Amino acid sequence: MIREYRPEPLTDFSKEENRRAFEEALILVKSELGKEYPLIINGERIFTEKKIISYNPANKDEVVGVVSKANQELAEKAIQEAAKKFEEWKKWPADARARLLFKAAAILRRRKHEFSAMMVYEAGKSWPEADADTAEAIDFMEFYGREMIRLGGSQPLTSLDGETNDLYWIPLGVGLVIPPWNFPLAILTGMTTAAVVSGNTVVLKPASATPVIAAKFMEVMEEAGMPDGVINYLPGSGGEVGDYLVEHPLTRFISFTGSKEVGLRINQKASVLSPGQKWIKRVVAEMGGKDAILVDKDADLEAAATGIVASAYGFQGQKCSACSRAIVHKDVYDKVLELVVEKTKAISMGSTDEHKNNFGPVIDKNAFESINRYIEIGKKEGRLVLGGSSDDSEGYFIEPTIIADVDPNAVIAQEEIFGPVLAMIKAEDLDDGIRIFNDTEYGLTGSLYAKSREAIEKCRQELHVGNLYFNRKSTGAIVGVHPFGGFNMSGTDSKAGGRDYLQLFMQLKSVSETL
Ligand code: NAD
Ligand code: ALA
Repeated sequence: MIREYRPEPLTDFSKEENRRAFEEALILVKSELGKEYPLIINGERIFTEKKIISYNPANKDEVVGVVSKANQELAEKAIQEAAKKFEEWKKWPADARARLLFKAAAILRRRKHEFSAMMVYEAGKSWPEADADTAEAIDFMEFYGREMIRLGGSQPLTSLDGETNDLYWIPLGVGLVIPPWNFPLAILTGMTTAAVVSGNTVVLKPASATPVIAAKFMEVMEEAGMPDGVINYLPGSGGEVGDYLVEHPLTRFISFTGSKEVGLRINQKASVLSPGQKWIKRVVAEMGGKDAILVDKDADLEAAATGIVASAYGFQGQKCSACSRAIVHKDVYDKVLELVVEKTKAISMGSTDEHKNNFGPVIDKNAFESINRYIEIGKKEGRLVLGGSSDDSEGYFIEPTIIADVDPNAVIAQEEIFGPVLAMIKAEDLDDGIRIFNDTEYGLTGSLYAKSREAIEKCRQELHVGNLYFNRKSTGAIVGVHPFGGFNMSGTDSKAGGRDYLQLFMQLKSVSETL
């Protein structure tokens, strides 16, 4: 008997014993830094000459791990092995595949702090952010396992005399899974396990900034008993290995989460038929955001400012759900700005292996440079009221930055920055705020802070985002509770962690027998 799905509780770090346990995990993980990790193709460990070196973004000389790097020849081997294995794996009953995920979730739960500690070092996550990432990975496996059991038998149909009719969900084939680095365990685990619990086999190409936590995910899957060849771990360059596999005729689907630019490129390449290809490739692409929090004049301003700061600066603003625009009614704009500045000043920045620091580095040199370019643009487009400085002498640290009085059409109000930069925008009234909120090419997350029932109901209809929140932050969707995915250039709205997600990796077979 499988108990009802419940989200994994988060660790309470105000308790001394939890802090001690996390510190022990940090010591353990630190002792393992610098290890080498091979590719894994059909269970075979392959060390290559070319490597991806994963560095600690808070301490750029510290090597987190050295990971073998695939080339096209190895990509070909991986997809061939995945295709062979598909013929066997697809015959595993749905409930057996689900049990494997439950086992993996139990293993990850036991090793929770170890995985979170690895994300402190590899991604620069604070303790609570890393803890939430691991909890979400557990949730995805618990949730998708149950979903597969629900979808495993024949589906409801209208009956007809003289026939028995059945409708079965069957898998698609070999998938290419391409996750981002910003939820390096949760999103990778969700995307990979959704595809395999549905009966597909995959080639998993982790993000190059966070390949070590991906290698540790493989450890969990192997320990849980995942047969060789179902998940093939293939770190490599997006341009070389990614393009090759996207274009490959054996690729049946691509599950991608990342930037708009790469998502659109994949979508375009996948639409071109390769010689020998027998299907239309399915692309699930979840992409960027330019998310906003709208504050109406009657809102609880303390709560609004707290929500804006948490959404703008959690994980240094490197969430697709991060609030990068605060759109505030002109009557309360100055007060909200004052409160946001005050609360941002209280943020403690530094290496997040120390518990007191809840604000760490950005992921790498490219991100550091790109965010700084946006800050320079922002200084011309608005009024810099806080932050704006950065320091990459040890790690890639950028201060939480607030730019006020930004025009809704300014570059920093339209383009995804993916860093700790908040644009404050003044709205004439609620209607003007709604117009500004919707006026970007994205449509991922957003919040409204308001008391008026009328305003809430109007915004329920008119704010065009995949994940809309009232009187709470715009980040922190929970699996099964807030199915996640966006509109327009934010992607295909696949709703990860929702009851329609697994069907994206399956097709329906209708079977009718005359009696
Ligand atoms: P990215 O697009 O740079 O990379 C994403 C993945 O694509 C990586 O694994 C990368 O190696 C791979 N890749 C790059 N070029 C490729 C190619 N030509 N072919 C195949 N794969 C290729 O994104 P990122 O920097 O890792 O992540 C940040 C972005 O992800 C932001 O835009 C953020 O908003 C978005 N994101 C979206 C969601 C969502 O659910 N909508 C969630 C998290 C992150
Ligand atoms: N699912 C993540 C959040 O909601 C991106 O913040």
